[in-house]
Amino acid sequence: MVHCKMIALPEYSGRLGILNAIEGGQDIPFEIRRTYYITGVPGDVTRGFHSHRQLEQVLICLNGSVKIRLKTPSEEEVILLDHPSRGLLIGHMIWREMFDFSPGAVLMVLASQHYTEEDYIRDYAQYEQEAKTYFQTEGDV
Ligand code: TYD
Repeated sequence: MVHCKMIALPEYSGRLGILNAIEGGQDIPFEIRRTYYITGVPGDVTRGFHSHRQLEQVLICLNGSVKIRLKTPSEEEVILLDHPSRGLLIGHMIWREMFDFSPGAVLMVLASQHYTEEDYIRDYAQYEQEAKTYFQTEGDV
């Protein structure tokens, strides 16, 4: 998926368990301005249903598993996050939906910007319109 990639996070594991370390600007390709985590999501719930214009994020499932549907007007992909050593980078103008949260799933998100509702596109028709222009222009560069 354009603007998205999996990031292997440094892992120190052994008989004592697993430790993951994350360095802003090194393992994550942006300075981390915000972090939040999503917990307690029932298995039949889908969240997200939005895109961001400027925000970049890395999603890490710290416990359990969750599926992430990524969409642009021309592509669609579902990624399973089920290990704390795997991060999913989501760049600009990608529609995302999070679903199939396992019991006890903990989804942590690292974000490049502080929270601002103006950066969200929550209506899919509006997203499609903006994204078509955005990816067309990007393709022209
Ligand atoms: P939202 O991003 O819509 O959640 P999701 O995409 O996972 O369904 O956010 C849900 C609510 O939380 C919304 O009212 C805004 C608020 N919120 C903050 O105040 N700060 C934040 O950093 C985030 C991510 C959400």
